[in-house]
Amino acid sequence: MGETNFAALAFTAGEIFTPGSPINGRDLFAGRLDQVNRILDAISQRGYHAVLYGERGIGKTSLSNVLSDFLHDAGRTFLLPRVNCDAADNFTSLWRKILQDVVVTEHKPKIGFSPEQVEISKNIVDSLPDQIAPDDVRRALDILAHGVTLVLVFDEFDRLTNASARSLMSDTIKSLSDYGCLATVLVIGVADSVSELITEHQSIERVLVQVPMPRMSADEIRQIVKNGLTLLEMEIDENSLEEITHLSQGLPYITHLLSLHSVRSALASKHLTVSSTDVEAGIKVALEQWQQSIKTAYYDATKSQQPGHLYKEVLLACALADVDELGYFTAAVVRAPLRTITGKQYDIPNFARHLKEFSEPGRGDMLERVGGTRRLRYRFRSPLMRPYIVMRGFSEGLLTKGQMYQISNHRD
Ligand SMILES: Nc1ncnc2c1ncn2[C@@H]1O[C@H](COP(=O)(O)OP(=O)(O)O)[C@@H](O)[C@H]1O
Ligand SMILES: [Mg+2]
Repeated sequence: MGETNFAALAFTAGEIFTPGSPINGRDLFAGRLDQVNRILDAISQRGYHAVLYGERGIGKTSLSNVLSDFLHDAGRTFLLPRVNCDAADNFTSLWRKILQDVVVTEHKPKIGFSPEQVEISKNIVDSLPDQIAPDDVRRALDILAHGVTLVLVFDEFDRLTNASARSLMSDTIKSLSDYGCLATVLVIGVADSVSELITEHQSIERVLVQVPMPRMSADEIRQIVKNGLTLLEMEIDENSLEEITHLSQGLPYITHLLSLHSVRSALASKHLTVSSTDVEAGIKVALEQWQQSIKTAYYDATKSQQPGHLYKEVLLACALADVDELGYFTAAVVRAPLRTITGKQYDIPNFARHLKEFSEPGRGDMLERVGGTRRLRYRFRSPLMRPYIVMRGFSEGLLTKGQMYQISNHRD
């Protein structure tokens, strides 16, 4: 048996745990079968289209990247062009971008009397007018969808600010459906609801398969860690796996970030098993690498001259509080985690002021506040704020492992 090359493994770990980029292949893709199947369903039925929406970092792009593997397994010949929308795009530029690499091959008889044929490849974009309209798109896709499963992926659709482009996309989906075109449009974006993403979605509701992307289950998160470690031929002890799982809060982005740095810590001390010491070290590195805006907001929110001011504890309790499907929580649900963290019977009047201040610029402006006085609800402006706060609290000893499990077990 050869010597383990720890440096090489540390390098490979960076290709397996990729907080900075989406998954590209099935071997690293965990869970999400329900969402995959619903999209495959839309693809397999003429006239149906799909929209995939949810938080940033939840795994939308990754899912769309592995669709080709699933289609391949189903024995389909497919074409899956994709485009990332941006603020500068209009309807024409979007379709030009997504179709620019798509080539059609025509067979024409050779000039003269020979029975041979010549193949002519031409870019489908060349046949489109300068200003593209929904009908042009439908005609082009009709040609392309011959004999192949054609799926057009529009990612980061939330960044498309051009109102006419958005409404023309809805018209296009409607027209593709009305004419029974075989192509499928898949729209992906950061949103709370479909109506936020798709203009006039009622008019295409019947033909649009809506797939919300929820946070991952604890099992799916564990799977990500285990898949990666198996590929590295490494292991993790049960405790450390649970730590990473809890700290991830269902966000695969966090799982990748923590796994990568924990694995590298183990390898740095020439171990092939990740232990709690490594997760601790991994958390430290992860916290440092967090985007500066979040670190600054945390600092602003928790700074205070007064002793016993509770800002850190209340913020941590907010980050651990139960949220509804849109990420909102109430003051009432902050109580339980705050009591667990502090061991004291704090009640809403003890921390109502903190919640209010967290929703204002003076304290980082990190909470968004909605609803009237009777139905006040709060939500972290950035979804990455919650895991950051929990990890900070854990790393600074504000939250012990036992407390963390107690709080999240009550939830499951
Ligand atoms: N099903 C999955 N299995 C393993 N890792 C995933 C999965 N989904 C997402 N990830 C990881 O989570 C992070 C965010 O994923 P991404 O697809 O970019 O999210 P989104 O497009 O929703 O912002 C990436 O690091 C990606 O590798
Ligand atoms: Mg994405």
